[in-house]
Amino acid sequence: MSRPDLHQRVAERRKQRIARDRNRVRRLVTHRDGIRYEVDGQWMTGFCSNDYLGLSQQFSVIEALQDTAAREGVGGIASHLVCGHHAAHEALERELADWLGAPRALLFGSGFLANLAVVQSLLGEGDVCVQDRLNHASLIDAALLAGCHLRRYPHGDAEGAMRQLRGTPDGAALLATDGVFSMDGDIAPLRQLALAARVQQAVLYVDDAHGVGVVGPNGRGSVAQAKLAVAAQPLQLVTLGKALGGYGAAVVGDADLVDHLAETARPYIYTTALPPAQAAASLAAVRLARRDDWRRDKLQTLVARFREGALREGFELLPSDTPIQPLMCGGDARALAMARALEAQGMWVSAIRPPTVPEGQARLRITFSALHAEPDVDALVGALVWSRDAIAHGFGEHASDEHAPDQHASDEHASDEHASQEHASQEHGFGEVA
Ligand SMILES: Cc1ncc(COP(=O)(O)O)c(C=O)c1O
Repeated sequence: MSRPDLHQRVAERRKQRIARDRNRVRRLVTHRDGIRYEVDGQWMTGFCSNDYLGLSQQFSVIEALQDTAAREGVGGIASHLVCGHHAAHEALERELADWLGAPRALLFGSGFLANLAVVQSLLGEGDVCVQDRLNHASLIDAALLAGCHLRRYPHGDAEGAMRQLRGTPDGAALLATDGVFSMDGDIAPLRQLALAARVQQAVLYVDDAHGVGVVGPNGRGSVAQAKLAVAAQPLQLVTLGKALGGYGAAVVGDADLVDHLAETARPYIYTTALPPAQAAASLAAVRLARRDDWRRDKLQTLVARFREGALREGFELLPSDTPIQPLMCGGDARALAMARALEAQGMWVSAIRPPTVPEGQARLRITFSALHAEPDVDALVGALVWSRDAIAHGFGEHASDEHAPDQHASDEHASDEHASQEHASQEHGFGEVA
């Protein structure tokens, strides 16, 4: 027998990842206070979360979770179709459907599961799923698991999508795209994609994990921003774990399609329901997200200020107006060095490397939250400049690299307790955003 030894294979692959600067290491957050994180004993200002609206620690959201947990317990206890479907789930589904102007919403354990559910329950052998090349990994895996053909078109290219659909005229078709792209921050050309879907009799599915709450009128996402009704865009993914600050997801849209998911999607049927307390927290978060335009206005101000400052300093940004602002670094080693140098100044920014992004496009994925203040943005731009200069002078090669300038941002967030400027270990890798 010549069966490969799995332990050996794992060890070799790990060695290869390390040799290519591709190893991934989790960082331990011991406390978080808004945008401030205590990581490995050092307080840092974070520019890496998806808590865009700053709702994850909002008082009424926490209160809703605590109250419901006190009354109903902490567990989901069973799947929705057994005895796990609770009034808190029902209320959240209704609120989401009402907010997004769709007949139905169906909750899922996560966005990843929801994407698996949609593709798997609608498509099978002989069908085709046409996708943007930069779609999230869960959509790609969904098509692979569904056993359908997977065709990918160049990023943001609606004509490419049309060509792919035209080239596979037999079998049912789903045209799937991120609404806001998770690593690039730009928005899909949804009106053109809706047209391609209509002409080619495909169903358009928009994964709006990073759009809902952030873009569109009342935060209704990229679909509402593109003024598409349910007939043109029958299914939309909403995640509860990003702008809404909680955990879980929902698919919102056409009643027949959503009802079909509830009865047939394996990632819906064979898994425990979200805890009702989590659903209650998300309901409180949705109500705030619908109402609080100031959070989106604040994000716009922060993003504009950052782009103006970073471009003035000669950094390469991608064309994004959303809170996801990638700063291009090229090589993996440079992206990691920039992240380390930023960390030395108390700024936590994720370095994103292939395979999460294409080869040669490693970047800092900088994200903003409505909880940041303008001085935080200015401090980040200053820290980026310092990092670039420090790397040009060999940052990371000497012990004295520990002494970065004090770049703590707004006084609002800095305190004596938080002011530690200890340099992080050079051995750290950087976690990559989901
Ligand atoms: C575009 C996109 N879709 C889906 C997901 C998965 O959502 P979740 O984190 O709720 O599993 C993510 C991120 O995680 C994402 O960025």
